[in-house]
Amino acid sequence: MQRLYRKRIVLGVGGGIAAYKSAELVRRLRDHGAEVRVVMTQGGREFITPLTLQALSGHPVHLDLLDPAAEAAMGHIELARWADLVLIAPATADLMARLAQGIANDLLTTLVLATNAPVALAPAMNQAMWADPATQANRQLLEQRGIRLFGPGSGSQACGDVGMGRMLEAEELAQAAADCFENGRLSGLRLLITAGPTQENIDPVRYITNHSSGKMGFALAEAAAEAGAQVTLVTGPVFLPTPDRVQRIDVVSARDMLAACEAAMPCGLLIAAAAVADYRPEVVAPHKLKKDPTTGDGLLLQMVRNPDILATLAARPDRPFCVGFAAETENLLDYAMRKLRDKNLDLIVANDVANPSIGFNSEENAVSVIDRQQHVTRFGQASKGHIARALVAFIADRYRQA
Ligand code: C5P
Repeated sequence: MQRLYRKRIVLGVGGGIAAYKSAELVRRLRDHGAEVRVVMTQGGREFITPLTLQALSGHPVHLDLLDPAAEAAMGHIELARWADLVLIAPATADLMARLAQGIANDLLTTLVLATNAPVALAPAMNQAMWADPATQANRQLLEQRGIRLFGPGSGSQACGDVGMGRMLEAEELAQAAADCFENGRLSGLRLLITAGPTQENIDPVRYITNHSSGKMGFALAEAAAEAGAQVTLVTGPVFLPTPDRVQRIDVVSARDMLAACEAAMPCGLLIAAAAVADYRPEVVAPHKLKKDPTTGDGLLLQMVRNPDILATLAARPDRPFCVGFAAETENLLDYAMRKLRDKNLDLIVANDVANPSIGFNSEENAVSVIDRQQHVTRFGQASKGHIARALVAFIADRYRQA
């Protein structure tokens, strides 16, 4: 199992002798399925070359905050948003001090301030520097703010001392990075997720569908599995790999999707992220429709309503905790609140699909979650993976309170 499958990791490399282990760390992270982008401090470059880390990560290494060419390719804010995890290894005493003070005087420290992703440090320094009260005070402050520390370990050091301050080995760090994505928030719970578009056939070669890529639903399935849920993912036709530990059921039409969902009941929690076609052609022509000269340039398709999967499941006596999505191009919150009421939901996630940077098929999203009391909680623009983890944590809290 690749524990970091598709996880985006920004690896920050500080200026310490342990930087030589960072090369191996890039390999381990990638072996576990992660995508890695490396950011080096000035000091880091004195110990290991950017070329080495570029070759191992498969991407140019990010070096300077004020480099117009690098900013044009992937700027520091973009990189901060891209990350699912920022891992700094080695984290020197100086880096820890700068981070503790919120100083942003190079690319790496700026990025740490700008990211919403979890940040983890792998300290590496001489044992006396680690034991120094200033470093220990910085460690405490960083931990209080939610920054995780991996190690340090103890043993012999490059300077000849023996004691605490050795950077953990690459494989230990990769495993600790993977642990950051695991939590027991939904432990043991059966969870049903719908995702992707549906396809409604017109004839054997044509169909009606929509622009849904399924990315948000798949990201939610992955985050829910990482939270310990037993996940069934019922998906329309999409081109996405199945997340680890997720049971995937492929369907085509809205009616297939409803049947698959009903077969997967009962479950404790339902997240309906699918963009289900509201209508389908009343009859599916048995043969390919031909151009009909008697109807001129027009073609009349009689459509009928599809079942509402979410509303149907929310009306069952064994009703799960129901979370819907409202993808709208206008009056987002009003329409979402109406859907929450009409479909008898517990929560609705409102998604502005008019904005091309966060709409269908994009890599990022920004959403608002509305509850029955009409409280609105906003989740700012970030990768769909990041939004999915934040949403799963929020939904898990509300599920437990219900
Ligand atoms: O009514 P609308 O399609 O905008 O509602 C969106 C929500 O309802 C989404 O959660 C979607 O997955 C769900 N839905 C459904 N079955 C339908 C239509 C929508 O489950 N036929």
